[in-house]
Amino acid sequence: MTDFHFYTPSEIVFGRSSEEQLPIVLSKYGARKVLVHYGGGSAERSGLLPKIRTLLSGSGIPFCELGGVVPNPRLSLVREGIALCRREGIDFILAVGGGSVIDSSKAIGYGVPYEGDVWDFFDAKAVAVKALPVGVVLTIPASGSEMSDSTVITNDALGLKRGCNNDICRPKFAIMNPERTFTLPAYQTACGVTDILMHTMERYFSKTHMDITDAIAEALLRTVMDAGPKVIADPENYDLRASIMWAGSLSHNGLTGCGGVSDFGTHRLEHELSTLYGVAHGAGLAAIWCFWAEYVKSEDPSRFESFSKNVLGGKEPISAMRDFFHSIGMPASIPELIGRKATEDEIELMSLRCSRGGSFRVGNFKELGKKEMQDIYNLANQ
Ligand code: NZQ
Ligand code: ZN
Repeated sequence: MTDFHFYTPSEIVFGRSSEEQLPIVLSKYGARKVLVHYGGGSAERSGLLPKIRTLLSGSGIPFCELGGVVPNPRLSLVREGIALCRREGIDFILAVGGGSVIDSSKAIGYGVPYEGDVWDFFDAKAVAVKALPVGVVLTIPASGSEMSDSTVITNDALGLKRGCNNDICRPKFAIMNPERTFTLPAYQTACGVTDILMHTMERYFSKTHMDITDAIAEALLRTVMDAGPKVIADPENYDLRASIMWAGSLSHNGLTGCGGVSDFGTHRLEHELSTLYGVAHGAGLAAIWCFWAEYVKSEDPSRFESFSKNVLGGKEPISAMRDFFHSIGMPASIPELIGRKATEDEIELMSLRCSRGGSFRVGNFKELGKKEMQDIYNLANQ
């Protein structure tokens, strides 16, 4: 096993009507003026945002609002948010939504106290030492951003999607009411289930490991693979929604990777798909994973054997995962994802961007440079 550092400071308030505790946790973390940041309308339609406005007004907590975050959140709105926070004297950001809203909030949080351009943090030109605190009311279990140290932003001017990891962006709290996820369409539920599985699988496929971490990871994977198809057929099942929601946070707060070395090659390859084609992150992961696995499995076949035995009831892992993705309505190749084959130029562009012009390698189970990235995209393009 590898030495590790496990840090997971986010407070979790979980359960029915948990959003009613919002004023208490905001006060606990010293919020004096709040930016309520949200997406394209689902939280308004579900009644969550009206409820949050009432709770904040009723508790005398001043706030202003910025909506309009899109999936694969954009730097242009982050810049608007930074200017708004400075103008209004905001000292706390409340993300109401999923990974896109949370990441946009984290990026605004980085930008407000920084004198330079916030993209510097995503372009590895600077490391943030200060950030406005962020709290979350989660509406879609998927990204795990509510407990993670990660922020993923798309620079819409440059066509680049980049992540930035830093413990200071971990949310102060996350309020999670599984009932708030009943309105998720089947496709978004399936994208979330895929992303949750992948956050654990990116850690599980490691050449060093620890028995307790493996056991936690395998239990999480089995639970989510069992609950995913069931909740798509029964979207208002509270217990299934709750299991998936909690799994989403545990999958990406570091717990399922202690003692191993994370890979995240599939994630890196996927970020280029969602940048180029605007697809949902979870669907992009499903389109890549089986081909990544095919390409790297000879590195350590015993890992695939454990995955098969302890998660998939002995089935061959790659075809079992392909069948699972199909069973929840996910694509399992690039043509299934975008409705056509990617062109040679597009594969070249994605490999160039992913390898930062050929200078950057991703993954650990097997390191991938530009040529290996191109090979995997080509395999996934059949
Ligand atoms: O915008 P609205 O109208 O709210 O609709 C959203 C959006 O269209 C909808 N939705 C959310 N909650 C809903 C709902 N619809 C009905 N009922 C609800 N309760 O779902 C759509 C997708 O939302 P989004 O936030 O984009 O999804 P997700 O949580 O999957 O986030 C994806 C983003 O997170 C990044 C991805 O790259 C992508 O940009 N990631 C962030 C990570 C992190 N910070 O740790 C790790 C991940 O690996 C990932 O890369
Ligand atoms: Zn992900």
